[in-house]
Amino acid sequence: MMIRKVGVVGAGLMGSGIAQTCAQSGYETLICEINDQLLEKGMQRIHNAWDTMASKQKLTHEQVGENRARLHGTIDKADFADCDLVIEAVIENMEEKLRLFPTLDRVLKADAIILSNTSSLNVTQMGAVTRRPDKVCGLHFFNPAPVMRLVEIVQTISTAPETIAKVKEFAISLGKTPVLAKDTAGFIVNFLLIPYLIAAIRMLENNMASRDDIDTAMKLGCGYPMGPFTLLDYVGLDTTLWAAEAIYEEYKDPLYAPPPLLRRMVISGMLGKKSGKGFYDY
Ligand code: 3HC
Repeated sequence: MMIRKVGVVGAGLMGSGIAQTCAQSGYETLICEINDQLLEKGMQRIHNAWDTMASKQKLTHEQVGENRARLHGTIDKADFADCDLVIEAVIENMEEKLRLFPTLDRVLKADAIILSNTSSLNVTQMGAVTRRPDKVCGLHFFNPAPVMRLVEIVQTISTAPETIAKVKEFAISLGKTPVLAKDTAGFIVNFLLIPYLIAAIRMLENNMASRDDIDTAMKLGCGYPMGPFTLLDYVGLDTTLWAAEAIYEEYKDPLYAPPPLLRRMVISGMLGKKSGKGFYDY
């Protein structure tokens, strides 16, 4: 089966970035949200990104037109019926995913592949609520999805090797470098990244250094593009909390236990860049 049409569920930061990447890589792309307002917001984010790329001469106006023509929006999942592959990028909540996967399974054609962009939840469980667990795996993108070159392909105990091969080919066609991870909480990147981000928050809680000095230290001392607090705000504090909770839940390793400050900031709506306030103000 050739992959021609791709569906993306969720038009948030990750969903819109993934849909942008697919459409600009030549795929007919259908992005789905729960209402017109959220859909319009996600579509606008993508159009703005293409306009910025055109203003930097990374895309011609003709290419922007072609990309726009390949991108379609819907609020009805039934419209995914003719998609060859669907990527789920909804909220990091297992109940939500377990409601979505059977719906996708029902509306999609029998040979279509279903991928989850989850950063740390159990992909095996998502596949198990479909009639096609062999055609379900993880495809984890990194923020900003159109720019970051890595994707993690997450193989469950049920994913067929042919599915992995097709997804690998698809990832390469998006200009990404895929790595293969087993379906264990955090996969590769978050298993290593989350303890680092959590440790930075603990340092701040314990007054060991200032926010700015910790960020500067890791930027200039380790050559990271962003310090941990800038990155936390960029990724989203809610996303970080959910990832930490999911890995902690699996291993009960205190290394992954969310620090009190992180939880309190999320409860207070301080989610980082997307909410206008996190460790920094935006
Ligand atoms: N579409 C197209 N291009 C985009 C874009 C988009 N949506 N967003 C940004 N860009 C482009 C910019 O236009 C810019 O292009 P240029 O260099 O040609 O002008 C380029 O990306 C770099 O952007 P900026 O100039 O705005 O800023 P920086 O040079 O500081 O780079 C960054 C920004 C790429 C985000 C860099 O700071 C970085 O790599 N940060 C670390 C990000 C990271 O670690 N992400 C992973 C987080 S972990 C995760 O996502 C997993 C999750 O599960 C928790």
